Amino acid sequence: MKIYITKPIPETGIRFLKEREYEVVIRKSDTLISEDELVYGLKEFDGIISMLSDPIGANVLEKAGKCRIIANYAVGTNNIDIQAAKKRGIIVTNTPDVLTEATAELATALLLAASRRIVESDRFAREGKFRGWGPLLFLGKGLDTKTVGIVGMGRIGQAFARMISAFNAKIIYHSRTKQNLPYPFVDFETLMKKSDFISLHLPLTAESRHMFTEKEFSKMKDGVVFINTARGPIVREKDLVNALKTGKIAFAGLDVYEFEPEISDELKTMKNTVLLPHIGSATEKARNDMAILAARNVDAVLNGKPPATKVE
Ligand code: NAP
Ligand code: GLV
Ligand code: GLV
Repeated sequence: MKIYITKPIPETGIRFLKEREYEVVIRKSDTLISEDELVYGLKEFDGIISMLSDPIGANVLEKAGKCRIIANYAVGTNNIDIQAAKKRGIIVTNTPDVLTEATAELATALLLAASRRIVESDRFAREGKFRGWGPLLFLGKGLDTKTVGIVGMGRIGQAFARMISAFNAKIIYHSRTKQNLPYPFVDFETLMKKSDFISLHLPLTAESRHMFTEKEFSKMKDGVVFINTARGPIVREKDLVNALKTGKIAFAGLDVYEFEPEISDELKTMKNTVLLPHIGSATEKARNDMAILAARNVDAVLNGKPPATKVE
């Protein structure tokens, strides 16, 4: 049987498939995949390992042929029309859990980097501008005695909360359902009002698209720190830019963008932003484990067995 992989993934996953005698074709180009290439994959291959940047909508799924499984190499599956896949009898899987710690670590790093001006200070030091210790040099915002609001308290949100618990901060969270956790659950409005730091850990859905616009930013505390490692379109990027300009948001740490891989020029010229190229799960361990999990899911489905992590 034949498997199409839309970008090179760690060798572990490819080896797993080859050892089981699958013929593996890997798309080598680094450019965004075209509709024709996706249709080719869905027509000619028994399974696909897809990337979060591959838009697998109803328009391409309606032209599907042989394909029985789309194993998304990500936990988020907002790039795939799950219902349209289901209609074609195609199973969709994702890679939860194995990337949780890596992504929560990155969110923690990004929060500290943005609020303590790590990148800006590094640049200053490299440019030879450090002329001596200064009481007013690069003052930022610390977590001590502050409130961190987490939006979306699932696997990654909870791991992030555990990491942030090491600091002397209060944690509050909001998601659609209250959970049995050692942190206060609050409604969305309260989270906006009370938080000194806000970090997003919810999926992109029809409901969460543009959940953060000018209106929500205006309800936040002046000088809030805003971290997004979830999905870009949850935030209206131009409103975020304005909130950064007015100082409503003091610092933003972003791993994802509304029009990814485009990043608005204004964000790039601001000093109070730390911008990362969507590297949340980018540790060797997480990416190896994701490759194995995706390959196992492909193998299970093509052998008529239930995959470990099916998306409903
Ligand atoms: P998860 O375990 O499903 O957690 C998602 C949480 O969001 C749940 O607590 C859910 O609870 C909540 N939620 C869903 N819709 C919501 C809404 N409209 N308003 C408020 N809360 C909502 O997922 P996960 O594994 O933690 O992953 C979360 C997301 O992180 C992924 O979907 C992906 O987009 C992103 N991610 C990014 C990277 C990166 O590289 N930057 C890496 C991995 C994941 P309720 O259903 O009760 O609301
Ligand atoms: C990464 O963004 C993922 O959803 O796994
Ligand atoms: C700073 O280096 C201090 O000793 O306070």
